[in-house]
Amino acid sequence: MKYTTGMLVYSLAFIPVFYCSDLQAHSWEAPVEAARQKNPLESDTLSINTGEEIFIQYCSECHGHNAEGLKSGKTGLAKDTGNLPKRLKSHSDGDFFWKIKNGKGDMPSFKNELTEKQIWHIINYIKNIDK
Ligand code: HEC
Repeated sequence: MKYTTGMLVYSLAFIPVFYCSDLQAHSWEAPVEAARQKNPLESDTLSINTGEEIFIQYCSECHGHNAEGLKSGKTGLAKDTGNLPKRLKSHSDGDFFWKIKNGKGDMPSFKNELTEKQIWHIINYIKNIDK
């Protein structure tokens, strides 16, 4: 097969398309700025316990009491929920904060349900679950 300039241009034109679709296939991520946000609360016993109470009330039915994740057969949702303490190890507090505030699909938005402080308490709880 002989390569022409036309073929080269044609193949180069497709590189960005494949690159972008690959990025989109990546799992749910918060915008970079949001993910950089720091947790303003001290991760002390009071915060962890407060976070646990809120988590059990608002989140455990879909995520399990210890945020270990539940099978879709148990929750009736379209997909299984992930292990949040494990996920938080590779994601920032700010990433989780943004996701809890905004929601996606079956994951509700808690913008109007919880205060920002309550969400940070929950994150402190999740972070300390397997300690
Ligand atoms: C009605 C079920 C439901 C409730 C209630 C719920 N979630 Fe979720 N949550 C989900 C589902 C489903 C996903 C996966 C969303 C996706 O990726 O499409 C999810 C995703 C998440 C994620 C993202 C995890 C990751 O790997 O990026 C976090 C963090 C989270 N939930 C925390 C919470 C917290 C905290 C609460 C309570 C304040 C809560 N969720 C309440 C169903 C729920």
